[in-house]
Amino acid sequence: MPDQPDSSKIDFRKIVHEAEAAVAGASDPAALDHLHTAYLGRKGSLTRALRSVGAQPVEERARLGEAGNAAKGALEAIFADQRRTLTPVEQRPAVDITLPGTAYELGHRHPVSLVMEELLEIFTSMGFTIADGPEIEDDWHNFEALNMGPDHAARDMQDTFYVAGTERPDGTFAHLPRTHTSGIQIRAMQETDPPVRLVAPGRVYRNETEDATHSAVFQQLEGLMIDEGTTFSDLKGVLLMMAKRLLGEDIKLRFRPSFFPYTEPSAEVDMSSPRVRDGAWIELGGSGMVHPNLLRRVGWDAGKYRGFAFGIGPDRIAMLKYGLGDLRQFYRPDFRILEQF
Ligand code: DAH
Repeated sequence: MPDQPDSSKIDFRKIVHEAEAAVAGASDPAALDHLHTAYLGRKGSLTRALRSVGAQPVEERARLGEAGNAAKGALEAIFADQRRTLTPVEQRPAVDITLPGTAYELGHRHPVSLVMEELLEIFTSMGFTIADGPEIEDDWHNFEALNMGPDHAARDMQDTFYVAGTERPDGTFAHLPRTHTSGIQIRAMQETDPPVRLVAPGRVYRNETEDATHSAVFQQLEGLMIDEGTTFSDLKGVLLMMAKRLLGEDIKLRFRPSFFPYTEPSAEVDMSSPRVRDGAWIELGGSGMVHPNLLRRVGWDAGKYRGFAFGIGPDRIAMLKYGLGDLRQFYRPDFRILEQF
């Protein structure tokens, strides 16, 4: 080989390929030693190729140097493997079984999942079934079927992210990450006949400025009960039962008049526990009597059936239950916090 081969002649890959084939054919340690000298010895072909990198044009050196080092690493591994293969089993280094093993920590549930599971358990024990819906929802289920047409002001409160490329002439988007789980009310009604009694858990998305009690992604639990003669007292009774089982017998609920386009009348639900923030009222979610339009939209007899719906925030409940001051901590992978539950 000439002392200063031009850089295109330094082909590290070729050297590795050749060596690989030769090493695989080495059937005893002496043959392997011989090959080792031929490639990696002082005058070995890889050693010489590496040495010639320094004589190459400056702009080539970095690339060649990197390729050369990688080739050297690969060759060393190839030789080591073959040496092991050629060593009789009884002469190979033994495994030291007295060394401590690798300990794997057992994972555990996220605090919000714990609350969600408890909620589902409470509602299923009251005869509610569990429903589900897609996280990427269509505009009709998320807004329109819930009495929020394209220009409805209530859409503003749920300003959100939209799926790019699905914008329509009227400015709405055909698909969006759902802003609430309320669209599942419609989906569930479309799939069955009355009566229904269901809860639907899930992740929802909003374009929120994040702070201690707001996150752009959070969880909701939707509830829907429709039957002949279901009343607002049923709503109060069910939510009170839920709150007591979740947070203790001494919990109190308060219903404040509110507005949601899909319920009439509508109410905001607050809870107060003597053990949490000195009994301060804390918002639990929204609720109301299902608007008859929703029933008509899915072809149900709005004269015969009526019911209630609610949407509550398990994140807020988890904050209360576990005394956490900042909602955002649930959505950050900080194990110092999450490990405590
Ligand atoms: N979807 C509402 C929200 O995300 C919560 C809600 C209010 C759900 C009233 C309901 C309801 O089912 O009846 O803020």
